Amino acid sequence: MEALQTIINHRTIRKYQPKKVDPKILNLILEAGTRASTTGNMQVYSIIVTTDEKIKEELWAAHFKQNMVKEAPLVLTFCADFNRFNLWCERRDAKPGYDNFLSFYTASIDALLVAQNVAIAAESFGLGICYLGTTTYMADSIISILELPKNVVPVTTLVIGYPSEIPDLTDRLPVEAVVHFEKYNNYSSDLIDEIYAEKEALTSTKELITINKTENLAQIFTEKRYTKKDNVNFSKSFLEVIKNQNFMNNE
Ligand SMILES: Cc1cc2nc3c(=O)[nH]c(=O)nc-3n(C[C@H](O)[C@H](O)[C@H](O)COP(=O)(O)O)c2cc1C
Repeated sequence: MEALQTIINHRTIRKYQPKKVDPKILNLILEAGTRASTTGNMQVYSIIVTTDEKIKEELWAAHFKQNMVKEAPLVLTFCADFNRFNLWCERRDAKPGYDNFLSFYTASIDALLVAQNVAIAAESFGLGICYLGTTTYMADSIISILELPKNVVPVTTLVIGYPSEIPDLTDRLPVEAVVHFEKYNNYSSDLIDEIYAEKEALTSTKELITINKTENLAQIFTEKRYTKKDNVNFSKSFLEVIKNQNFMNNE
């Protein structure tokens, strides 16, 4: 039940106390991370723990100068990593065939599952977390800051620390909106209206629409936050990173 409470009480924390995290707690959190399921138990991921202020400052610049990167004592970068596994295979006269897109995707899934275990474990100790989507936007800079070798790609980042704010729980679509029993039940227009009605009626939504000068909430996503132009540009740079890191040999 405690695990469930931790999960249900999750809120992203964007303001942190300067208080450090006890290394024993950090170790337990990291160990909880490694208990995540991974493909074939290959554990094709790595976690880079950054506490050094100078390196954090470099990461902060790469992560669009989001302040929590400097404020939170811990920055954990989760990487899809076939480097270690390939080195092991090669030393054992086993020929690795993991320089392709599927292997990148496999390793990314592993890394993300580990990250979410780490997030929940951290929250169970009263710590706050924030994921950073800027990891994929700025993967090339992060690779150079953290000196990631070939066959390693950063896929997400968590900042972790003691919260100095307790934000309200954010809204969610109703569970029925995202769950399909037995087979996919496609959405009629009326159902779309119904599913998004609560979110659209929130005072916070109305405030956002005023600030962003759009007609509705959906347009804030398409015109302001996640535009086609940005998505195409970041897709191109991320595909280049995946290629440079040796994961696009699909022949
Ligand atoms: C993959 C991923 C990337 C995210 N990137 C950012 C980010 O760069 N900056 C930020 O402030 N929040 C980021 N978030 C947090 C989301 O905005 C947040 O989870 C969402 O608004 C729901 O709020 P909640 O986590 O408090 O329930 C990210 C979340 C995920 C899962």
